Amino acid sequence: MNTILVLGGYGAVGREAATALVSHLPDAKVIVAGRDPRKARPVSGTGLMRVDAADPADLARALDGVDAVLMCAELDNARVARACLERGVHYLDVSASHHVLAGIEELDDLARKNAATAVLSVGLVPGVTNLLARHCVERSGARDVRVGVLLGAGEQHGPAAVSWTLDGLGALSGSWPMPFPAPYGRRAVHRFPFSDQYTLPATLGLDSAQTGLCLDSRLTTALLAAARLPAVARLLSRPQVRDVLLTALTKVHVGGDGFAVTVRAGGARASFSGRRQSRATGLTAAMLVARLPTMAPGVGHIEQVVEPVPFLTELAENGFTLDLDT
Ligand SMILES: NC(=O)c1ccc[n+]([C@@H]2O[C@H](COP(=O)([O-])OP(=O)(O)OC[C@H]3O[C@@H](n4cnc5c(N)ncnc54)[C@H](OP(=O)(O)O)[C@@H]3O)[C@@H](O)[C@H]2O)c1
Repeated sequence: MNTILVLGGYGAVGREAATALVSHLPDAKVIVAGRDPRKARPVSGTGLMRVDAADPADLARALDGVDAVLMCAELDNARVARACLERGVHYLDVSASHHVLAGIEELDDLARKNAATAVLSVGLVPGVTNLLARHCVERSGARDVRVGVLLGAGEQHGPAAVSWTLDGLGALSGSWPMPFPAPYGRRAVHRFPFSDQYTLPATLGLDSAQTGLCLDSRLTTALLAAARLPAVARLLSRPQVRDVLLTALTKVHVGGDGFAVTVRAGGARASFSGRRQSRATGLTAAMLVARLPTMAPGVGHIEQVVEPVPFLTELAENGFTLDLDT
């Protein structure tokens, strides 16, 4: 890969991805881009570009001479993916929204025709959770998967990620206990609309998949559960309440920056944990960009384009803990 454009490249995930790309692909030119680069803190070794990916002409200009795009913003992503794949530019997307990924899946023929690869489910969840799920399913032969996600409420999550989480409150019902690695232990998770549970049945041939979320502190998890009650969810959807919450949640950090994801399928269990989920997502993205030359053209999810154990083992070498036998 010679030139990689990171859209949303100075956001919380984009910065981590750009930093990891510079170290994984030292010969590549990495450009971080967004609508207002004056907001950007410099990422060493990268170039900076002003691009509004929602503006087709602006996007077309930005794609000139680019080999791969890493999408770390959420807008009309299928349109951005189409613009890339039409030009034979590879495309990776960290989105956790099922409707976004479903729109890009439809571009498979276009990608093949232009010898380009699009990788979806790039990150921690979806991403690492998809690989853990494939590993557990292959070990156990089970056709039902449960995924548990524990996020640190103290990590500096980007406004787009916080907004995505607020949108998901109250979308799904159901809670169940999941065993997380130390120091967390057994926690109740509350079903949350992460995309992995919608795409895994097709890619792994499952009957069902469910993904639940909890936060590192039991108090904030209790608030998360309460926020799913219809009356509270209605209140939170009011624009004024939402704006206040969004500002508060991006500035005030209650809890730590640890994370853990855990998967259960039949008798098989596996987990991945560490600190700073944005860093895990950025590193996953960079490792996938580095593997693009080995991938076939077309649109695929992470579990369809890499082998779980070697990929997760290499990712874990960056200071994370992988347990494939919990
Ligand atoms: N797969 C995973 O595990 C995982 C983990 C965490 C987050 N995510 C997803 O990653 C995405 C980013 O999250 P984040 O925490 O990094 O959010 P963030 O800090 O708010 O970053 C979003 C970035 O996108 C840029 N942007 C927004 N609209 C744009 C446009 N029209 N054109 C170009 N750039 C634009 C913003 O800069 P400007 O405003 O200056 O344009 C900003 O730099 C979210 O969709 C989130 O759900 C996925």
